[in-house]
Amino acid sequence: MSTSRPHTDTLYSRLLARFYDPIMSGAEKSFLEEKRRQLLGRARGKVLEVGAGTGANFHLYNARAEVLAIEPSGAMLKYARKRLEKEGVTARIQLLKAGIGDDEVRAVAPEAGFDYIVCTLVLCTVPGPGEALDLFRQLLKPGGQLLIVEHIQDNRQPQRWLQRAVTPAWKHLSEGCHLDRPTDELLKAQGFRAVEEAYFYRWVPFYWAVLEMED
Ligand SMILES: C[S@@+](CC[C@H](N)C(=O)[O-])C[C@H]1O[C@@H](n2cnc3c(N)ncnc32)[C@H](O)[C@@H]1O
Repeated sequence: MSTSRPHTDTLYSRLLARFYDPIMSGAEKSFLEEKRRQLLGRARGKVLEVGAGTGANFHLYNARAEVLAIEPSGAMLKYARKRLEKEGVTARIQLLKAGIGDDEVRAVAPEAGFDYIVCTLVLCTVPGPGEALDLFRQLLKPGGQLLIVEHIQDNRQPQRWLQRAVTPAWKHLSEGCHLDRPTDELLKAQGFRAVEEAYFYRWVPFYWAVLEMED
């Protein structure tokens, strides 16, 4: 399956982008921003942020990070641009309208690879997560790290059954988000090794990790 498909902004995608931050604000305040902070403070050098959305991570990078933030949705990018204009963003951040599988990303990627790839709440949505992880391997420099926060499949029943049952409708409402992806298992099956990892529950299970490529 392809990792990227042409993104056309519809009225629905514009509405979703407009309300993404207000919808997420409760989760951000209660746990998500802190989890992002614990992850992103370590990013420095050349950083690729995949699926930057409205730019929720931007203020959490430090001044030593030089970030290429890619996002295929023009509607989301509009809000990401506004965030960049706000005070409090210390990293150098360049926005690019592109998905992970797009040629533009490879064209501007550093020859030696990125020091970090950041992926927060994105692997649930990319059309082909296995293929996206293959691309991450190609784009990361040897010894580079993948920084992840993702909600994942629940291994408990009946929660797992419920996630499966709800995902087809949820996918349509959320422009592609799968509630039932075992992203933690997929990462390991695709040759990533967790240097640090944590699982936590907030309605659904989340996976937080710093990963490196197996040799
Ligand atoms: C739930 S939002 C998360 C946004 C942001 N990363 C955050 O943490 O708030 C998922 C984002 O992934 C983006 N996305 C979907 N497919 C993608 C792809 N193939 N490559 C890069 N981003 C993608 C969507 O456009 C959307 O902005």
